[in-house]
Formats: sequence, C-alpha cells, structure tokens
Amino acid sequence: MGKALIGALSLLIFGAVAGSGLLLAGRIDVSADTPHSPLVYRLIEWVRERSIDHHSRGIIPPADLSAAARIRRGAGNYDAMCAGCHLSPGAGDSEIRKGLYPQPPDLSLSTAGAGESGRADARRFWVIKHGIKASAMPAWAKAGMEDEDIWDLIAFLKILPGLSMEQYRHRVASSEGHSHRGMVVHSHPVPETGTGHDAQPH
Ligand code: HEC
Repeated sequence: MGKALIGALSLLIFGAVAGSGLLLAGRIDVSADTPHSPLVYRLIEWVRERSIDHHSRGIIPPADLSAAARIRRGAGNYDAMCAGCHLSPGAGDSEIRKGLYPQPPDLSLSTAGAGESGRADARRFWVIKHGIKASAMPAWAKAGMEDEDIWDLIAFLKILPGLSMEQYRHRVASSEGHSHRGMVVHSHPVPETGTGHDAQPH
C-alpha cells in the first residue's frame, strides 16, 4: 500500500514536471490552424456543454418569440452582427469563418433549432449574451445588447434555417437594419421591444 502510494505520487510529480516543461518550452501549439487532438477536443466540448447547461438554468424565454416584430428586428441585427461568422442562406462560406477554430456553426443550415424547446432557446440566449471563452464568439451584452435585443435574435434564429436566399434578403431589407439598444453610433430612438406589435421604423 505504502509502495503503491509512493509510486502514484512519483508518477504525479513526474507528470507535473514534464507538463510544466512542455508549457515552459512553448511546445503547446496555440495556432488556430492546428486542430486539438480528438481527445482534447472532446474534453473541451464536454466542458463547454456542461457549462452552458449549468449557467443557462433558470432562464425563461419570453412567450412571444414568434412575434413578427421580434423576428423583423432580429433579421437586421443578425445580418449586421452575426452573418459574417454564422452565414446566411445561399451565401456560401465567409473568409473569416474559414480561418476560425473552433469554426462557428452555420446557423442558416442548422436544423438543431427546428421545433426546439424552451431549453434550447435558453442555452442560445446564454451563449449570445455571455460569449464563449477562447473562441471567437463574443459576449454581446458587452457590446451593449440588452436581453430583449438578444431574444429578438433568437426569434429570428428559429426561422432562419427555413429561409431561401431571397426570403433572407427580403427579411433583412425590410428590417430596421443594425439597430439595438446600447449602440454608440446610433442617434435615433430604438423601437420598444417585447410588445409583439410592429414598432414604427425611424
Ligand atoms: C467572430 C465570429 C463570430 C461572430 C461575429 C458571432 N459568433 Fe456566434 N459563435 C462563434 C463561434 C466560434 C462559436 C462556437 C464556439 C464554440 O464552439 O466554442 C459560436 C457559437 C454560437 C452559438 C452556439 C451555437 C451552438 O449550437 O452551440 C450561437 C447560438 C451563436 N454563436 C450566435 C451568434 C449570434 C446571434 C451572433 C450575432 C449577434 C454571433 N453568434 C456572432 C463565432 C461568432
């Protein structure tokens, strides 16, 4: 028992020293064009999913996610802030997405959102609000987006995979464009959200 303990401790110390050596020598490759090993990738993915699951508990989506006004406002903001990384119907891959690791999911294709539950909406809300560390996914609340602006985006994400390229363009053209609370460059009043009624474009 004593010997086994000493053996385990030695192994642990050896591992820690060897690991520190690798880190100190700069041998860990942080480049975005060298993928993680499958094991490390799966571990990171698992930690991410557990974290999102835990932190998004208790978030209750609003009842009016299918309101036309929400979808319309979400369309303009999605096109301005998200489509570069998450793409849009028929537009093909973007230059930035090709170089990103992890690669942003193509939200115009994703059928994961089809008929989704409130749980999936809550998870998306948390990710969009807080972002994901060491990936390119920004914390949009830091950019000034308020909760209602984020729910507008989720309302649009729910219909996005079903849109053709023409329908997508039409939705964006008839939206308020890039328009949400907390925008520094925006000098016009931003329409009220959450009413389910069409607010007047400014
Ligand atoms: C600069 C690139 C970039 C921009 C811009 C960006 N994202 Fe992301 N997003 C990512 C990356 C990368 C991931 C995946 C992160 C990971 O897997 O760890 C991600 C993940 C997500 C996810 C989780 C998807 C899933 O199924 O797990 C959602 C939802 C999302 N983004 C929505 C948005 C929305 C909405 C916007 C615009 C307001 C946006 N993103 C803007 C890069 C971006």
